[in-house]
Amino acid sequence: MDLFVITGITKGLGYSINNILKKENKYTLSISRNIEVSQEYNNRVIECDLSNISQIIDLNRKFSEAITDNITRIVFINNAGAIDPIYKVGEDIDYENIVKHINVNYIAPIIITNEIMKIMNKDCRLEIINITTGAAERPLAKWALYSSSKKATKTYFETIKLEDERINVLNYDPGVMDTSMQGYIRKSNFPLVGKFREYSEEKMLKSPDEVAKDIMKRYIQTL
Ligand SMILES: NC(=O)c1ccc[n+]([C@@H]2O[C@H](COP(=O)([O-])OP(=O)(O)OC[C@H]3O[C@@H](n4cnc5c(N)ncnc54)[C@H](OP(=O)(O)O)[C@@H]3O)[C@@H](O)[C@H]2O)c1
Repeated sequence: MDLFVITGITKGLGYSINNILKKENKYTLSISRNIEVSQEYNNRVIECDLSNISQIIDLNRKFSEAITDNITRIVFINNAGAIDPIYKVGEDIDYENIVKHINVNYIAPIIITNEIMKIMNKDCRLEIINITTGAAERPLAKWALYSSSKKATKTYFETIKLEDERINVLNYDPGVMDTSMQGYIRKSNFPLVGKFREYSEEKMLKSPDEVAKDIMKRYIQTL
């Protein structure tokens, strides 16, 4: 039996992917801080604010309680992500927001993957679909946290793939999508913000539904 573990299903790309999984009757476990929304859509839900380190560490207990079935393949869709804070080095910034950012984009996927590996039996496979970004490869001024945390996560997954042959990793860059993350970017202050405003004005943003269909077609249906 396959299990789909997915983060960030309340809106944006994660919402669209999760909708398709639901329509296709896939067995899903979502990890979300918004338990009401998630319970409507998923077979199982773990409540966790991925920016909160104590809650991330507590996944240790919650994972073993949530997964009891005989799973032969796990697909982990690492989708939840944060772009804020966008700031210039040296600015007076609340350091807690830096820690929260790193927790969501980097620490949480590491610990979730570890928990998944702990419950996998020797014949179970793990497919990690990591939602990455062009900014991980092409840094943008004032996006240092986002570019570096997304790159770090990508490197982490590529490294653990070398450690266990049951792990396969697919990095997927969705391009520029019409989600609340883009809304936040357009309202921010950084040198290339005009370009992002233009993408929206010129209707160049991809819909998250279209991107989710592409992910399903390329990866999930062929896994
Ligand atoms: N939008 C783009 O143009 C774009 C481009 C390249 C890559 N990406 C990547 O695509 C992925 C999805 O982005 P999106 O545009 O769909 O973003 P989005 O609309 O802002 O949605 C982000 C999702 O992550 C969840 N999330 C954020 N912080 C969380 C936290 N502390 N705890 C639990 N869940 C949290 C949100 O849940 P809540 O409702 O609880 O906040 C939401 O479901 C991200 O990894 C992003 O880096 C996006």
